[in-house]
Amino acid sequence: MPEPLWWQSGTIYQIYPRSFQDSNGDGVGDLDGIRSRLDYLTWLGVDALWISPIFPSPMADFGYDVADYCDIHPLFGSLAAFDALVADAHARKLKVILDFVPNHTSDQHPWFRESRSSRDNPKRDWYVWRDGKSGDAPPNNWLSQFGGPAWTFDAVTRQWYLHSFLRQQPDLNWRNPEVRAAMYAVLDFWLKRGVDGFRVDVIWLLIKDEALRDNPVNPGWEPGQSEHRRTLNIHNADQPEVHDIIADMRRLLDRYHERVLIGEIYLPVEKLVTYYGKDLAGAQMPFNFQLILAAWNAPTIARLIEDYERNLPPGGWPNWVLGNHDQPRIAARIGAAQARVAAMLLLTLRGTPTLYYGDELGLGRVTIPPDAVQDPWEKNEPGLGLGRDPSRTPMQWDAGRNAGFTTADKPWLPLDADYARMNVQALRAQPQSLLNLYRALLDLRRQHLALSSGSFTLISSDADMLIFERSFGDERLIVALNLDHEPQPLPDHLAEAEVLLSTSMDRQGRLAEPLLRANEGLVLRP
Ligand code: GLC
Repeated sequence: MPEPLWWQSGTIYQIYPRSFQDSNGDGVGDLDGIRSRLDYLTWLGVDALWISPIFPSPMADFGYDVADYCDIHPLFGSLAAFDALVADAHARKLKVILDFVPNHTSDQHPWFRESRSSRDNPKRDWYVWRDGKSGDAPPNNWLSQFGGPAWTFDAVTRQWYLHSFLRQQPDLNWRNPEVRAAMYAVLDFWLKRGVDGFRVDVIWLLIKDEALRDNPVNPGWEPGQSEHRRTLNIHNADQPEVHDIIADMRRLLDRYHERVLIGEIYLPVEKLVTYYGKDLAGAQMPFNFQLILAAWNAPTIARLIEDYERNLPPGGWPNWVLGNHDQPRIAARIGAAQARVAAMLLLTLRGTPTLYYGDELGLGRVTIPPDAVQDPWEKNEPGLGLGRDPSRTPMQWDAGRNAGFTTADKPWLPLDADYARMNVQALRAQPQSLLNLYRALLDLRRQHLALSSGSFTLISSDADMLIFERSFGDERLIVALNLDHEPQPLPDHLAEAEVLLSTSMDRQGRLAEPLLRANEGLVLRP
């Protein structure tokens, strides 16, 4: 068996740069701030950081509206600050993954300014422009993911342009070879600067039906759901041609040493796995969000793990994500007690784990007062609970003012009210804290090839107890997770097992009695 690559054996840590560490007192995190916290990441034991967008941007979607792909937003620093961060990270053997946002630019990007200026501008066809239907109707019924139509009428040239997200985020036309070349040059720019890979934003949306056919209506839509769910995304997503583009990107990365291509993809498993590409020439890791989306019970989770394992193409490397900047935090979804079990699950499954900053502190849904709302989605569709601010609040470092995040009067989003208790400094000092559990799990994963590289076998998922085996060579480890709030007896064959780690962090060695306590997970040597 070949030596695993860094992105196979390692763990990825996602940083939302506005919220990790402010170094210049403006209330927003930045690159020097991240650099000053690298020792924390090595202490924790992760291997790579993925940083959400840091490029010049009007911030209509907080950086996911890029106005220049080859520079750094002054809010975050400069190219020199970026180089310093990469150098310091690499000196600590930490990899750096950037966020690449190819589906759309900002409406302030020079390409779009040109494109909208006249119908015969050379950049006109870099975006998707169409006449409306008779009357004042947009070209088709596609909807923006943030509510409203996916088309905006532009008075200058009296045509509509497509935007899968905000109207400030016009979609690029990936059918145009010039667009492809320009965007591949962006990848090359950062690869030359030493980045170790990319997380590609909404990669499954890149290319759309050539005829721009209407989407079918979704019969399952209910009031209270996001408006864009009113139709089924058949013709504006997951088109066969997308795989050629991804293969191009991959070929480009493969010209460099051990770089990784990760795709953001929200699709059912059978479709998700097609993004590994024919002969694995696509993304090395199509992000697997199933743990974020699934109901939290043992039978459901067992089924989704098995489905995923069964669907993986031969040689395709699995991965698991527990949280990100678009989703409710894990502790908010399943509660503090089960968040410990979730940590053990994430870090003992087969495949690369991605964890979201702050989840290691147990951050939940932080309350955002109405006048502090930032997220454009919440502003467009208020009150439906779609807003993403509650999962994007500042990292909590200590019990001091603004939790050590900023010296400004106010951080850009409020802190969790409980930050005096829930912060890195306080939790580091408590041997049984969630933070120390994450660290112990990362350490265990590093020490045991069975966990980082071994095979996976489901043993049982009765009641609300999930038991599986990981093995490598002669080593067999058992992971037993109690997803219930009641104690449960362990099966007889585990009666004599040795505890390597309990989520409670209060027992090791031979099991005194074959029992899994409420909300407990164990890594066992049988
Ligand atoms: C992705 C990002 C999300 C962003 C959207 C538009 O889903 O993760 O934060 O709003 O794309 O770029």
